[in-house]
Parts: sequence; structure tokens; C-alpha cells
Amino acid sequence: MIFWRVKSLDSIMATAEKKSLERSLGVWQLTLLGVGAIIGTGIFVLTAEAAQKAGPGMMIAFVIAGFVCAVAALCYSELSSMVPVSGSAYTYSYAVLGELIAWMVGWALILEYSVAAGAVAVGWSGYLVGLLDNSSLGIEIPFALANGPYAGGIINLPAVIICILVVGLLIIGTRESATFNALLVAVKITALTAFAALALPVSNLDHFQPFLPLGTSGVVAAAASIFFAYVGFDAVSTAAEETKDPQRNLPIALVGSLLICTIFYLLISVGVVGATGAQPLMNAAGEGLMPGSKEMAEQCQLLAAEGYQPVVCSQEALAHVLREIGWVKVGNMIGLAAFLALPSVVLMMLFGQTRIFFVMSRDGLLPEGLSKIHPRFKTPYVVTLVTGVVVTLAAAFLPVGKLANISNSGTLFAFLVVALSVMILRVKDKNRHRPFKAPIIWLVGPLAIGGCITLFMFLPLDAQLVFPIWTCIGLVFYYLYGYRKSHVLSGVDLPQQKQSD
Ligand code: ALA
Repeated sequence: MIFWRVKSLDSIMATAEKKSLERSLGVWQLTLLGVGAIIGTGIFVLTAEAAQKAGPGMMIAFVIAGFVCAVAALCYSELSSMVPVSGSAYTYSYAVLGELIAWMVGWALILEYSVAAGAVAVGWSGYLVGLLDNSSLGIEIPFALANGPYAGGIINLPAVIICILVVGLLIIGTRESATFNALLVAVKITALTAFAALALPVSNLDHFQPFLPLGTSGVVAAAASIFFAYVGFDAVSTAAEETKDPQRNLPIALVGSLLICTIFYLLISVGVVGATGAQPLMNAAGEGLMPGSKEMAEQCQLLAAEGYQPVVCSQEALAHVLREIGWVKVGNMIGLAAFLALPSVVLMMLFGQTRIFFVMSRDGLLPEGLSKIHPRFKTPYVVTLVTGVVVTLAAAFLPVGKLANISNSGTLFAFLVVALSVMILRVKDKNRHRPFKAPIIWLVGPLAIGGCITLFMFLPLDAQLVFPIWTCIGLVFYYLYGYRKSHVLSGVDLPQQKQSD
């Protein structure tokens, strides 16, 4: 009955205490880590994709995706304050739904974090190429070395380089990485504020008509993709073991970082629509063209030849809008800000991934050598290196839009399981102390579950298919290794290793 190989909450806490990471993060650092993980490729790059799917109605898409994340964040807050240990959704589901589901969640989180890290690295590479093109440095990266095979190139070298740099930072240590991250968050916030301050005042109400050119289904489809723009707030909870006073700080940081980003996203989406308009490109039958499709690329090229580039064709939507309304230099600065700041998102995604692998290996579901802690830097360096290699390979060869949608599929599954776990625990373990209690859980929980299922249904078919295939591969791994080596099965709940081994 592997469904019931449940690890008790008390034993989870005991394991964490035996082999722990250094507690160095305060509430501000943690909130900044959240914002650092959230604001990235989603708003800087994929806003154009949301406009192509929903037109001006994309602002509703931002609200829908933000709402699903908000209810999920309330559930995350309750669990992370009760069980302030690393591992996030994986750990919570181990305690509530048992090892098999926990494994599936951990496996899905690989999709979320690693694939997202790859996506953002690829987005960053695009900005680097654009910046060099527009600079007077005279440096040009050959097309074949700046694009993966999907786009007719060989390898995305800039994406590879940024991945390697970020892995190095993570190995040196959390404190240094968090400080670096805080600086880049400041750059992002400044860029988004500048955008809103320049775009909103010149908004034209005519640009909001027609508001829903592709109907409500277009809006939900845009929400399913732009959900990526919010992915990352849960990474805060993966740092639970490295947080001071986690019961208080985790819920504040989770909800706080999400709130800050939602406000910015709303202002930005209204600004994009209001300043230049955001109508989708249609085919002869009046259907919206699929972002990233060949048809769409051809249509954009035709329009560019006529000297017109709508925002839905832009790879750098925010910079494009500012240039269109006459702020050319500020537009270029926004491009520079994205170039400087996107690495902080890669960093946070990789950080989340390594911490989840760390906990899974500590539980015996992955080889224990992975959870070795570096004697000097006190970081899980083996798992960081392994993750780094995989993410670097993904970034080298795969495209950004597809990576984002695939990442969403794994994230939605994890969110769903977290919401389910909160509700089950409210019944099974009523009296346990809950430093933070999600309000009206019998409404919030089902809304989170229903929201995740709905968004999943509106993802493109290929992203929907990757998830079950990935899960099946994970189950094979589980039965070959984790099922036999699990510490819950063997009773070796507390590994004998010491911190420095
Ligand atoms: N939310 C992050 C981004 O938009 C993953 O890049």
C-alpha cells in the first residue's frame, strides 16, 4: 500500500533538524527572493504572447492567473508555516498523501523549476543578442551560436554561459546569492515602474476596443500561458530550512511577493494595451494565429517589411512599446534592465530545484550522495552541479515559449496537490498548531484546485502531453530506485551522515 507510505510531520521536522542547512534568510531577503523568482521572462517576453491570445483582454488573463496563484499561495503559506522545512510541495504531500504522490510532485517540480530556469536563460540570451545588435561595440554573436536547433541554429551559447555562472553563485552560498538577487530585483522594479510611469499617461481608450477579439476562451488560454509570469513565489517555501523564524516570515514573504508582482503586472498590461493597442493577428478565417507558429512568424515578417511591427510580434514587448511612443532611449534601457535582471530568475529557479533534490535524496528517494553538503560553503554542491548540467543542456537546445508552457504544466500539478493536502490535513490533523491559517479553506482550497485544472486544460496540447509522459518516466525511476531505498520503508528516517561528509 505505497499510497499510505506516509512520513509523519514530526519525523519530517526531526530529519530536517538532524541534517540541516544554515538559517540565514530574514523576511526581506525572503520576499526579495520571491520577487526575484517571479518577475522575469513572463512579463518581459511573454506579454506579447498573452496579447496574441487574448487581445486587450490579456489584463483579465493576468488577473485570472494571479488569482489562481493567490489562492494557491494561501495554501502554501499554511503548510510552509506548519512544516518549515525544505522541499515545498514535495514535503507536504509526503506527510499527507504518501510517498508515491510525493514522488510525483517532486518529479513535477523538476519540470517547474529546471524547465523554467532553462526558459528564462533562453529569454536572457535573446536580450543579450538584441543589446549587442543595438550597441556600438561591434560585437555580433553568430546566429548558429545564439539559437538552438529548433530555430535553425546549433547551440544557444549565451544561455549556456549564464547557466554556468548562476550555478557557480549557488555553490558559493545562499547569503551571497541572495544579496546579488536583491540588487537585480531593484533593477527590475525600477524598469517596470519606469514603463508604467511613461505608458499609462498616454493610454488611449480606443485601444481597448474590441476588448475580447478572440472571446473568453482566448483570455483563459492567455492566462494558462501567462501563469508562467507568476511561477516562482513557491520557491520561497523551498528555502524554509534556511529561514530565520520561518513560521512568521514564510507566509509574509509568500503572499507579499505575489501581491507586489500582481500590482506591477496589472499596471504593465494596462500600459501595453493603452499605449499602443494589442490586437492579435488573425488568419483569413478570423481565428487568432498561434504564437510561435510558422504562420505567425511569416505574418510578422510581412508586416515588418511594410515597416509595421505590432506588439504581438515583438520579442521584447515592453521596450517595443516605449520606443513606439517616442521613448527610444528608455526603451533600450528597459532592454538592458531585462538583460541584467533575468539571471536572478534563473538563480531562483535553480535554487528551488536544488533544494527539492536535496530533500528527496535525504529521504532516500534519490541517491544519498546528492545531498552532500560542501564543508566550506555549506551548500548542497553535488545536487547543484547535477541540476546545473541538466538545465544548461535544456537551455542550449530548446525554445523559450514551449519551455514556459511545459513548466506551467508541472507547476499546476504541484499547486493542486498542495491545496488538496491543506484540506486533508484540516480534517486528519485538526489540532496541530497552525501559525498561519488559510482563510475560508473550504472555498479557497477548491478554488485553487479548480483553477489549476482549468488552466491546465487551456495549455497547448504539446505541453499537456509532456506532463503525463514525464510522470510515467518518473514512475519507472521510482520503482527502480526510490521504492526500494526509501528511508520511510527501511526505517532509516534519520540519515547517519554528518553535515560535512
Ligand atoms: N515567473 C518567472 C518569469 O516570468 C519564472 O520568468
